[in-house]
Amino acid sequence: MPYKIKDPALAERGRSQIEWAERNMPVLMRIREEFKESKPFEGIRIGAVLHVTKETAALVRTLAAGGAEVWLAGSNPLSTQDDVAAALAEDGINVFAWRGQTPEEYEWCIAQVANARPNIVIDDGADLHAYLHSKAVEAGKEVWGGTEETTTGVIRLRALEREGRLLYPVIAVNDSLTKFMFDNRYGTGQSTIDGILRATNTLIAGKVFVVAGYGWVGRGIAMRARGMGARVIVTEVDPIRALEAVMDGFDVMPMREAAKVGDIFVTATGNTDVITKEHMMLMKDGAILANAGHFNVEVSVKDLEEIAVAKRKVRENLEEYTLPNGKRLYLIGEGRLVNLVAAEGHPSEVMDMSFANQAYAARYIAQNRDALEARVYRLPQEIDASIARLKLESMGIRIDELTEKQRKYLSSWELGTTESQ
Ligand code: NAD
Ligand code: ADE
Repeated sequence: MPYKIKDPALAERGRSQIEWAERNMPVLMRIREEFKESKPFEGIRIGAVLHVTKETAALVRTLAAGGAEVWLAGSNPLSTQDDVAAALAEDGINVFAWRGQTPEEYEWCIAQVANARPNIVIDDGADLHAYLHSKAVEAGKEVWGGTEETTTGVIRLRALEREGRLLYPVIAVNDSLTKFMFDNRYGTGQSTIDGILRATNTLIAGKVFVVAGYGWVGRGIAMRARGMGARVIVTEVDPIRALEAVMDGFDVMPMREAAKVGDIFVTATGNTDVITKEHMMLMKDGAILANAGHFNVEVSVKDLEEIAVAKRKVRENLEEYTLPNGKRLYLIGEGRLVNLVAAEGHPSEVMDMSFANQAYAARYIAQNRDALEARVYRLPQEIDASIARLKLESMGIRIDELTEKQRKYLSSWELGTTESQ
């Protein structure tokens, strides 16, 4: 079996991590049992580009249990958990991932997945989809369908769709309610704080904590930072989201103003150049910078490198930059996803739902490939709701059911203040 990882000797430690994740992913484990019986991927090759974490291992093992031949590469040069990659390689998964890749190595790993000529592709951030639409088009034309995990990836795929260039149907897993309402908000909310703490061990209480972007990710981070006693400022470009942040009780102001008062800055916009040298030059000595958005373009690391007069590593995942005005700024994890670089990504409990969506989306493609067009789809609402039901059941939480009378009431127009019939 071909693979390329850091060190096969880490496999035992990785196996123990995967067991711990699987213990906390009851929905995915139920799906695995279903797949073991029905074998929906018998004879099917699945290519995946995902953060290689213990939770991703749980997904990959579920796809393999369903009969798939899986080829896996990491979706970020710094997010791979090397022990997990080693355990997967030992299990016969074709895995190409290690922590600390150069851009060339990162692309080489994606090429290995594309060159395996997958029938179904699973991606996080759309680097594999982009590769199959530019550098490996012949392989792209053979793909039956794909899935996409994150907001930024879905934005890229919708751009391909608008240009009429999308080669195969894609299920935007990110757009399932059981994904973005939980993973983006509670998952990133907790794991971003976790990453900041592991990298700096700074006290959050009493700090001015600036969150750029009040989407699903930004809301989660702002909520958790406030919960730990920070004074939270939100920056936004969308007037509705800015208003929502105001009414949620946060201070809202432009980044140029926030830059002067912030102690900790986290970007969560999916956009580029959110914090640039113009802002950096206004910041206080000791300000900490981190990014939770998909790509490392939100905090302009290029600008920071350009204006800094000195740079040194002060701790694992923490670089100190000295500016010409003598102030020092601290950048976590090279401006890449702070929660995956400096911590372990989202907790397993939340990835349970995200990856239940991925598993069902892959099966949906296998079962419906002849009926699907080269468009961006959402997973059917019944599947989304069924994942929520399974999650509630696994948590031992029961809910009410509509009575026949209530169901009728909710679908009629006649019953208002007065009866119309
Ligand atoms: P979203 O679309 O819900 O929110 C993004 C928000 O950023 C929007 O409200 C938008 O108006 C705002 N914004 C855009 N440009 C801005 C600017 N220049 N300044 C201030 N605000 C700006 O998206 P989301 O689901 O919250 O995802 C945000 C990013 O996080 C994406 O890149 C996504 O892929 C990524 N993500 C990361 C993780 C993780 O594990 N770190 C998890 C989920 C999503
Ligand atoms: N994205 C965010 N957290 C993750 C995790 N734990 N595993 C895989 N992808 C992730």
